[in-house]
Amino acid sequence: MAEQWQDVLDHAVAVAQKAGKVGLLENPDYFIPLVLFIGEESVAAGEPCDLTDEPTWIIDPIDGTTNFFPLAFLLIMGVVYSCLEDKMFVARRGKGAFCNGKQLRVSDQKDIHCSIVATEFGSNRDGGAVEKIFSSLRKVVCLPVHGVRGAGSAAINLCLVASGCVEAYYEIGVHVWDVAAGALMVTEAGGVLMDVEGGALDMMSRRILAANNRHIAEQIVGQIQAFTPQRDDAPPQQQ
Ligand code: IPD
Repeated sequence: MAEQWQDVLDHAVAVAQKAGKVGLLENPDYFIPLVLFIGEESVAAGEPCDLTDEPTWIIDPIDGTTNFFPLAFLLIMGVVYSCLEDKMFVARRGKGAFCNGKQLRVSDQKDIHCSIVATEFGSNRDGGAVEKIFSSLRKVVCLPVHGVRGAGSAAINLCLVASGCVEAYYEIGVHVWDVAAGALMVTEAGGVLMDVEGGALDMMSRRILAANNRHIAEQIVGQIQAFTPQRDDAPPQQQ
């Protein structure tokens, strides 16, 4: 069984690499003059992860690898494809966010007690971090909120906020390629983004809070026990 599961994951990664490197970067239909590139697979292979003012492709061909949700995204345009639902989410700065052509709008809920909050446990298994993740979740649940969800993909969770299906999503430990497209989806659908401690969102900090409005976001901020993972743009650690 374990071997079969490994086969599936290997296949997913192979498809991801093909989608990221062939589908977007070499297919003339998708070609945009390429200046810089940040991708989950390339960073894993030792390439730098520097976000500058230059036009940059940020690509995570499969987000939520164990769920096999393919996606790809750009800084000024975001694309998230949920293959299980055959839903194509697209957002373009200043032009709105859409799902299969239908414009998205965040929920107008203002009452945290009637709100649904999405989050994930992430992949950090450090004891202190896990403790804070559970403690934060307990406090959010006991606000109380109406419910808690987790789609298993940061990108899809952000699309759920943009679609008005959940009021908020937060996570510590995500990477820039997990959230860049979905973040644009949220703002183009009328939502807000911030750091989990309430300051401005820093895309390389690996911390994100997205919500339908500032009031809901700020109530969640008050419950989160924050911690600081190594930044995406940190220099590679010495062995
Ligand atoms: C992960 C998923 C997951 C989130 C992790 C991400 P990956 O992406 O988005 O929902 O909890 O933080 O790293 O690694 O499967 O592409």
